[in-house]
Amino acid sequence: MAAHNVFPESRLPCPSARRELTTKALLTPPKQRIVIVSNRLPIMLDRCDGSGWQAKPSSGGLVAALRPILRERGGLWVGWPGAADVGDTELAEVGEHLAAHDNPRMRAVPLNSEEVDDFYKGFSNGLIWPLFHDMPKICRFSADHWRAYCRVNRKFAEVVAREAAPDDVLWVHDYHLMMLGHELSRLRVSSRRGFFLHIPFPSLELFLELPWRQQIMDSLLSFDLIAFQTDRDRRNFLQCADALGERFVVESNVKLDVRGRFLDRTAADDKAWSDIQIATLPISIDYSRVAKDAASDAVQHRALQLRVDLRGRRMILGVDRLDYTKGIVHRLRAFQLALERHAELRGKITLVQHLVPSREKISDYAKLRCDVEQLVSEINGQFSEPGWVPIHYMYHSLSWEDLLAYYRIASIALITPLKDGMNLVAKEYCAAQVEEHGVLILSEFAGAAAELKTGALLVNPHDIASTAESIYQAFVMPKDERLERMRRLRRTIRNHDVFDWAEAFLSAARKKSARSDARAGITPSSHNHRHGMSRA
Ligand code: F6P
Repeated sequence: MAAHNVFPESRLPCPSARRELTTKALLTPPKQRIVIVSNRLPIMLDRCDGSGWQAKPSSGGLVAALRPILRERGGLWVGWPGAADVGDTELAEVGEHLAAHDNPRMRAVPLNSEEVDDFYKGFSNGLIWPLFHDMPKICRFSADHWRAYCRVNRKFAEVVAREAAPDDVLWVHDYHLMMLGHELSRLRVSSRRGFFLHIPFPSLELFLELPWRQQIMDSLLSFDLIAFQTDRDRRNFLQCADALGERFVVESNVKLDVRGRFLDRTAADDKAWSDIQIATLPISIDYSRVAKDAASDAVQHRALQLRVDLRGRRMILGVDRLDYTKGIVHRLRAFQLALERHAELRGKITLVQHLVPSREKISDYAKLRCDVEQLVSEINGQFSEPGWVPIHYMYHSLSWEDLLAYYRIASIALITPLKDGMNLVAKEYCAAQVEEHGVLILSEFAGAAAELKTGALLVNPHDIASTAESIYQAFVMPKDERLERMRRLRRTIRNHDVFDWAEAFLSAARKKSARSDARAGITPSSHNHRHGMSRA
């Protein structure tokens, strides 16, 4: 997915915004406790010299999306606190800070530095991340990393097994924890369990390259519900499951339309009884909060300052975690070509590119930073004039207010990942466009393109020439067309926000199934008797 962690502290909503959201979040009252399991907790601990531990909010779309849900519904979050050898004792040390920021209840899974290297940097981010983003050439295959991945998934399962009650719904997130299903079964954890993949699921050809494909597929198929960001991911998964899985358990039966409503509900109800549910559930944002915060006085004030700094020029905005999947070099080349081909853009438009530091200790990321910085300076050297520098580049994290102010005044958002699970920046940009005058240029390879294609200008980021033309097209687009497109985009996002996403996932995960009953010791005959029905 893409989300992009951008301003974490400020993702803690103001009390009034929370009140408003609560109404929607609790439309369906919580029935069971939710236990969220993800690699990262919503906070990261950092050792500060002499004064013990400090907690910082974690970055990323996963945390941004889940935090409000758990806060509204209650529940538990199990994950890694982001530093080696840190556990519940250190979490307790920062307890006061956590309470002050209204964080959910958490249980830490401590990882030692070898596990951070082999499980997090090695298997998760050196193999699965590039493979699932269609970049097999940079994959690093290592049996040691695989063993560490299994060991760490077992550690997570042990913490979950200690904490989970049979009635809980376990909601497992993302590619770091694909072996958790297997480990939970081994430990006979009977709670219902769902898995959501935030990143793309690869094609059969790529998945088959994994030496551990069978174990991973078997583990995924032990969940009651598996959900993906797009239909393409879901189809890829079904193909892989068909090739590697036990055929009888695989059935595609839950699907949402763009408004978050179930399609094929009857089929879903029939099949959920005996099958795994495999769903397309695109993640979203807290639309009301983004729109409301973007309209606040603080953001308005910051936006005015930025406008003054721009001296009447229009802004193209890029905001990304620094990651090779984000297509940053391609984007810069497209901007360069647009300036070469359309001299009228020179001096009139500025590309503001924010890159949020990420996975800095992994060599591919460090190299990418050098490449990007070199290219920015090449383009600035080529086109700068007295009083105008074409690219303003910043390598940092932004505050929430700053981010919203940039979203609000940007004439164009240029979001061009080579591959992305969803990309919540695209949705945040539209929600924050309270004046509705901006144009979204979006890669067709971002998960968000499936929902936003009717209002965005879609581009293939590998096609530098046509991306450059789209930049020009956005620059000259008449106001009426911009307004119409942006309104369409905002409506789509408002109609399917993060609370709809969570409700859809949880209501599907709550459905009883033959396998969850079997784990809880309910036999088909006792169940049929209780419900007065027979199974085919
Ligand atoms: O889904 C991708 C993801 O795990 C997101 O949660 C987040 O945006 C990003 O990657 C953060 O990565 P990391 O946890 O490695 O810093």
